[in-house]
Amino acid sequence: MKTTGNTILVAGGTSGIGRAFAVRLHAAGNKVIVAGHRRADLDEIVAEVPGIEGEEFDVTDGASIRRLSETVTANHPDLNVLVTMAGIMVPETVLDPGSLEVAERTVAPTCSAPSGSSTRSPRSSPSSRRPRSSP
Ligand SMILES: NC(=O)c1ccc[n+]([C@@H]2O[C@H](COP(=O)([O-])OP(=O)(O)OC[C@H]3O[C@@H](n4cnc5c(N)ncnc54)[C@H](OP(=O)(O)O)[C@@H]3O)[C@@H](O)[C@H]2O)c1
Repeated sequence: MKTTGNTILVAGGTSGIGRAFAVRLHAAGNKVIVAGHRRADLDEIVAEVPGIEGEEFDVTDGASIRRLSETVTANHPDLNVLVTMAGIMVPETVLDPGSLEVAERTVAPTCSAPSGSSTRSPRSSPSSRRPRSSP
């Protein structure tokens, strides 16, 4: 992937790994849109890093994911990279009877998120894309 000139959506980009990615990718010369579910955190990164845009969404809510997708692709038709970092990790005690519920709560956002990270070369046509090699 080219590391500059992309339009990148970082879901879960208001803290931790996603925020670090967002800030570095912006500094490297990419257009970066950060999505997160706390308005105050979105406002903070948008104020701290001029040029980054913030969109509110909840990765556990399918309708919210669809709204985010529609908004970002309408505002940025050249979007070509998705970084998915929205999620939680709750400590589990496996012998605790409540641990299954904790595991489900942790895994659900990851599974409902748009699949992994995907990239598409800016301005590439379908015929110019190479098939992915097998792992
Ligand atoms: N750090 C590690 O060593 C590590 C290792 C393995 C896997 N992971 C996984 O990698 C992901 C990121 O880790 P991290 O350490 O960067 O975590 P983090 O600092 O807690 O950041 C998680 C991001 O996801 C957002 N988020 C959480 N729930 C959301 C929801 N329902 N809707 C929308 N956004 C939501 C958070 O926003 P808010 O702040 O507004 O909640 C935050 O921006 C997590 O899924 C974590 O489980 C992390």
